[in-house]
Amino acid sequence: MCGIVGYVGNREATTIIIEGLRRLEYRGYDSAGIAVVDGGKTGIRRAVGKLRNLDKVLSEQPLAGTIGIGHTRWATHGRPSEQNAHPHEVEGITVVHNGIIENYLELRRALSAQGRKFKSETDTEIIAHLVASNVAKGLSLVPAVRATIEAIRGAFAFVIQSEHEPDKLVTAKNATPIVVGLGEGENFVASDIPACLAHTRVFVFLRDGDFAVLTRSGVEITTFDGTPVPVKPKRIDWSPVMAEKGGHKHFMHKEIYEQPTAVADTIRGRVSMEEARVHLDGVSIGDAQKLNRFIITACGTSYHAALVGKFMIESIARIPVEVDLASELRYREPVIDEQTGVLAISQSGETLDTLAAIKECRTRGATIFAICNVLESSIARECAESGGVLYTHAGPEIGVASTKAFTTQLVALYLIAIHLGRERGTLSKEDAQELLTHLREVPKQIESVLSREASIISIARRVAKARDFLYLGRGPNYPIALEGALKLKEISYIHAEGYAAGEMKHGPIALIDEKMPTIGIATAGPVYEKTVSNLEEVKARDGKLIIIATEGDARIAEIADDVFLVPKNDPLIDPIITVVPLQLIAYHIADLNGTDVDQPRNLAKSVTVE
Ligand code: AGP
Repeated sequence: MCGIVGYVGNREATTIIIEGLRRLEYRGYDSAGIAVVDGGKTGIRRAVGKLRNLDKVLSEQPLAGTIGIGHTRWATHGRPSEQNAHPHEVEGITVVHNGIIENYLELRRALSAQGRKFKSETDTEIIAHLVASNVAKGLSLVPAVRATIEAIRGAFAFVIQSEHEPDKLVTAKNATPIVVGLGEGENFVASDIPACLAHTRVFVFLRDGDFAVLTRSGVEITTFDGTPVPVKPKRIDWSPVMAEKGGHKHFMHKEIYEQPTAVADTIRGRVSMEEARVHLDGVSIGDAQKLNRFIITACGTSYHAALVGKFMIESIARIPVEVDLASELRYREPVIDEQTGVLAISQSGETLDTLAAIKECRTRGATIFAICNVLESSIARECAESGGVLYTHAGPEIGVASTKAFTTQLVALYLIAIHLGRERGTLSKEDAQELLTHLREVPKQIESVLSREASIISIARRVAKARDFLYLGRGPNYPIALEGALKLKEISYIHAEGYAAGEMKHGPIALIDEKMPTIGIATAGPVYEKTVSNLEEVKARDGKLIIIATEGDARIAEIADDVFLVPKNDPLIDPIITVVPLQLIAYHIADLNGTDVDQPRNLAKSVTVE
């Protein structure tokens, strides 16, 4: 998730672009860059790290010109470095890009075979080379970009300019956001509204398949192949702060809503349906036969993901999996040998306990891997020297309470389980195709849950003043009960406890009364009946029951005070869906109680202390 800004008009482009990028820094901050065309020449300035580093470069080497493009990067391919920073320039063509070009390796090979030399490790540079090679064949910029789009596959929102045609910006969208801002004698293009709000409130929201050419006098929109598309401007009256949250009240709410895209982006480019194979770019799980045991270690929400991962890997790949809190693993002198794989899960990649735990395991001979959301983070770098890193593509997660990172961690674990199952022969091609088909249903199914948020709000209103909650689940939904409880307590400061539903009679049942809501996860699957009988025990003691169940379950309403139905999916994928209503319940209870949802008291986004 990167930040893109483009400007064409009669004012100095640099100031407008840099201020726009500042409004988008929440989208990524590994590096930043700007390219401005003046007098038929392209000036480029780039810097690693935060935007202030680019400011410094520009103060020493300013750029003049009234057309330009800029970018703040959230690295997905190619480590954060100046050479990998956007814009990328080839023969006077410059490009900034947000997304993932799935076939960039084959394109890079083909372009290299034509003698083209690459300066970066990014997939984006491919776009600049393709456009430049089309221009070199005699095409002008617009047809050269259209021909480029035909060659690339994947998610992209890019903006391209040419010093040979310095009167226009060309942009196109597929699965990644881009908006056009309309001005007087000037026009803007950006990844998100905040970048342009200081200059215009009139926007055109490009849709997948849209192609736009911006000049000082106007904007023309067509499909990729040139069919005109009507321009439908919309007026946006958000404040700049609201705009950074995309109109959401909190970053956490925005990030809950980003989950369909984040899940789709984490799957994208890693699944070959015809081979029924998963390609774990960047992770050499090595000779899967060599590993005879996995330890998954993490903290907090990532630990709950690890608990779900145990079910996925043991069920699909039939490898024994232990799950350890990192703060415990690092001190318990674990029995580890070179046939042990240790997998760290960390959104930030900086959690000290997790980093220390995998270092300890590595010194004991383990191959260490990571699932991370931040490229080149400390945990990612440590594992890159051993078994490798599988990145979630959730984009920056600003809210302290982890949401989209969690669901994309579950997707990453599922991909690893399928990869190992296919490598070890415990998963047939047909079964893998079926599981992967179910996985691809997840973004739409999360959208279905989000579309019924109103019923979650009415449930939250009924229980917002309770002081204690119990969350119950079985099997892969037991960790979801733990996660739902953590979400509630960390943002609303209400005591909540997650429990294995089967443990009710071993103590927690003493807690049940009409003042304490119990949230149960009783979705269709092998443990449904058992879970329902546990929930009936709650009902029999006048407990308030909120139940997450599967669409079509007509029976559950007989015992529940409130029911929220989720779409049916494979029991191992189900947790990716069932967590979403629990995220929303926690969010709305906290919001109703007025706590600081995005920065709850006493918490930090990344715990880099012991
Ligand atoms: C989750 O909502 C919390 N913010 C916290 O438990 C978090 O999951 C934990 O600190 C681990 O962070 P990491 O994933 O960045 O390692």
